[in-house]
Amino acid sequence: MTSTLNKTNYKEKRDKYLLPCIKHIYKDAPLFVKGKNQFLYDDNGKEYLDLFAGIVTVSVGHCNDKVLAATIKQASTLQHTSTAFMTQPIIDLAEKLASITPGKLEVSFITNSGTEANETAIRLARLKSKKNEVIALQHSYHGESHLASSLTGNHNWRPELPAANSIVFAANPYCYRCPFKKTPDNCSLECVKDVERVIQTQTPGSAACMIVEPIQGVGGAITPPADYFKELHKVLQKYGIYLIADEVQTGFGRTGQAMFGITSYGVDPDIMTMAKGLANGIPIGAMIATPEMAKAATKQQINTFGGNPISSATAIAVIDTIIEEKLMDNCKTIGDYILTGLNELKKDFPVLADIRGKGLMLGVEIANSNKDPLVDETNKIIETLKDNGIIIGKGGIFGNVLRIKPPMIITKANVDTFMQQLQKTLSKVVK
Ligand SMILES: Cc1ncc(COP(=O)(O)O)c(C=O)c1O
Repeated sequence: MTSTLNKTNYKEKRDKYLLPCIKHIYKDAPLFVKGKNQFLYDDNGKEYLDLFAGIVTVSVGHCNDKVLAATIKQASTLQHTSTAFMTQPIIDLAEKLASITPGKLEVSFITNSGTEANETAIRLARLKSKKNEVIALQHSYHGESHLASSLTGNHNWRPELPAANSIVFAANPYCYRCPFKKTPDNCSLECVKDVERVIQTQTPGSAACMIVEPIQGVGGAITPPADYFKELHKVLQKYGIYLIADEVQTGFGRTGQAMFGITSYGVDPDIMTMAKGLANGIPIGAMIATPEMAKAATKQQINTFGGNPISSATAIAVIDTIIEEKLMDNCKTIGDYILTGLNELKKDFPVLADIRGKGLMLGVEIANSNKDPLVDETNKIIETLKDNGIIIGKGGIFGNVLRIKPPMIITKANVDTFMQQLQKTLSKVVK
């Protein structure tokens, strides 16, 4: 197919009409015009296997038939009223979220994005606790508003502006580059002790809440040790600090072990936030809290688009699809298959220095034997894979982590294609 769109023209118009902060992942960015299941298509009809799912969002595949039918049905019935009026889908969605989230989480506020969900969560924790300080982790990403970017412990995503106040950072559980120079063999969870040090030295002795990603996504699939969250929770409970799990990337079965990342660590948070994969690409976010915490949010708030009928009906269809099609199990099976393939490749290509993650939330740190990040090589790998029809993401504080977070429907055959292309790419780029 020859494109009827002029890509060069679109690049020029992009640079003229979109703020320069909108940067594409590739030097030579394809112009995507279509998506179906785990595939994207550019303006020339070239097919790409999408292993990044629009940043971990297209959970059940592009234009998934069942979900699309629910979206269209709702769009042709009732599109919008705002939260000032009662509609059915937002209430049905809130009930569904209460049924799939852990512990006593039951009461939701539906938003348009993960950023807004985190804003709402911090506000609720502050209102309920009547405290101000918030603890976040280094290398975290929590969104792009003033507050959410201030909670983000990664210079790449913080604007050169004064940050929001009363936010303090603790060392993250980054085993490959342990901030305390420990190894998995002699790990003593110094990163948990660091949280207690932060409470004692950088807060008035307590804080409203701590916000964590169960696996740091933008940070590069940084995966805490098995006991991290249980031990962390004990410290937070000792000081009366609420735990907010930011499940924007790890939610809805993606880790292959539980519906939510934090539950796979055996911990029930006080508040959970979600977005991205919840509506497969239709804008949505959600915050869910315990009924006890919810009592602190009685003053009227409006969110014009939050939980609008189309997003809510779509989200319900996504959750049903994930459950009915047992996609969490697929995340586990295919995720393990990818890990096996990557570890096999590592024997020939030791630059695949740290292979980590769970389910279909995986990362590979590209580094030399001294652990120096190989940023140029990472960029070349990502660009070459794209030229050969494979889309993956990039992350990490140094920009040297390959992020593999495909739609939850991918197959072993898709993985075989990826491994062949990755092998060819590595032979070209690093040998
Ligand atoms: C863990 C996490 N939290 C929050 C956000 C912000 O979500 P949104 O981009 O929908 O505002 C992101 C986005 O990448 C994220 O990865």
